[in-house]
Amino acid sequence: MEEFREWFARIVPLLLVISLTTANYLPRHHGSVLLENGLGRTPPMGWNDFNHFHNKINETIVRETVDAIVSTGLAALGYNYINIDDEWAEQSRDKEGNLQPRKDRFPSGIKNLADYVHSKNLKFGIYSDAGRLTCAKTQPGSLNFENQDAKTFAAWGVDFLKYDNCHNDGASPKIRYPKMQKALLATGRPIFYALCEWGYEDPALWAPGVGNSWRTTGDIKDNWQSMIVRADQNDKWAKYAGPGGWNDPDMLEVGNGGMSLEEYRAHFSLWALMKAPLIIGCDVRNLKQEYLDILMNKEVIAINQDSMGVQGKRVSRKGALEARLVWGGPLSQGKFVALLLNRGDSTAKIRAYWEQIGAKPGSSVQVRDVWAHKDLGAFSQGYIEEAVDAHAIKMYVVVPKS
Ligand code: GLA
Repeated sequence: MEEFREWFARIVPLLLVISLTTANYLPRHHGSVLLENGLGRTPPMGWNDFNHFHNKINETIVRETVDAIVSTGLAALGYNYINIDDEWAEQSRDKEGNLQPRKDRFPSGIKNLADYVHSKNLKFGIYSDAGRLTCAKTQPGSLNFENQDAKTFAAWGVDFLKYDNCHNDGASPKIRYPKMQKALLATGRPIFYALCEWGYEDPALWAPGVGNSWRTTGDIKDNWQSMIVRADQNDKWAKYAGPGGWNDPDMLEVGNGGMSLEEYRAHFSLWALMKAPLIIGCDVRNLKQEYLDILMNKEVIAINQDSMGVQGKRVSRKGALEARLVWGGPLSQGKFVALLLNRGDSTAKIRAYWEQIGAKPGSSVQVRDVWAHKDLGAFSQGYIEEAVDAHAIKMYVVVPKS
C-alpha cells in the first residue's frame, strides 16, 4: 500500500506536466476542435485521376503516374498522395460483404498497387461514398459498411480516403460522415479523411472535428469561370481552416488545357493562398513543361505549405462584379502574402495596401515577386500597385522590416 502511495505521488505531478505541455501544442483554431489523427498539418499535396480521366482509371495509368511523379521531381516537392477516384471496385461485394477491386482495371489488386506506391515513398489514396452507391453508380458505397470497409482499406495500406455523398439515405452528412471517421480511427492506421459533400451542409461549421479536409463546392470544370466561382465560394469559410483541417474548393485543373497559362497561374496561386489541397488533376505522364513549371513553383508551394496554416482571403470587399481584387493573409515569421487578381477582360492597375493583407499600415517592407522569382526591393509608400493582365494575377511575399 505504502509503495502504491509513493508511486501515485510521483506519477500525478508527472501526468500534470505532460498534459499541460501537450495542451500548448493542441490546435486552437478559431475555437474549433480539429481531427487529431496527426495528419494534414499542412494542406495535402498529390494527384487524383478524376479531373482528367473521368473515372476511366486502371492500374497501368496509376503505376505510370507514380513513375512520372517521381521522375519529374513533383514527388520531391511534396506531391506525395497518389489517389484513385470512383470506379475502382466491382459492382457487388463478395460473399463476406467485402469490396472487390475491378478485375478488368485492377487485375493485380489494390494491395499490390498500394505496395508499389509505398515502394516509391509515396502514399496511396482511395475513394468511397457515404451512400448506397458511389456517384458513378458502378460500385457500392460504404454506408452501413463503414467498419468493414475501413478495415479493408487499412489492410490494403490505404493512407487517404475521399468520401463522396451520392445516393445517400437522406440522413444529414453530419450523421453519416462521423461514422466513417470513427471506423477509420478504429483501424489504428492513420488515414487522411477527405469529406466530399460539396458544401451542402456548410461543412466548415462541423467538419473540423470529423475530417482533415472538406469540399466547399460542387465539381470544378476546366474553365476560368468555374475556377473563379469556386475560389469565391471557398473564401467564405476561410476562418475555419487550419493545421489538421482544410477547406477544399476541389482539385486542380492545371495542365488539362481548358485555361490559358495566365489563368492556370491564377488558379494555382489562389489555391496555394487559400491553403487548399494541391491535388493535381491532369495526366502527368506527358505534361508540357509550361504546365510543370506552374505546378513546380517552389515559392508558391511554400506559401501553401507555410507552417502557420492560415487561409489567405479576399481582402478588397468591392461589389461581386469588381474585376480588380486583392487577396492576402499572414505567413509564419511575420511575413505576408499579397495577390492582385484581375478578373476583368482588359489589363488593369491594381493596388494592395499593406494593412489590407494584415501588415501594419504604411510599414516599410521588402517585396518578392514569387512568379518572376525576383526581389523587388524595399517599399516605403505602404502599398504596391501593378498593371495586371486580364484573367491574371501577381503574387508577392511581403516581409516587414524589423
Ligand atoms: C462526385 C465528386 C467528384 C468525383 C465524382 C466521381 O461528382 O464530387 O469529385 O469524385 O463524384 O464519380
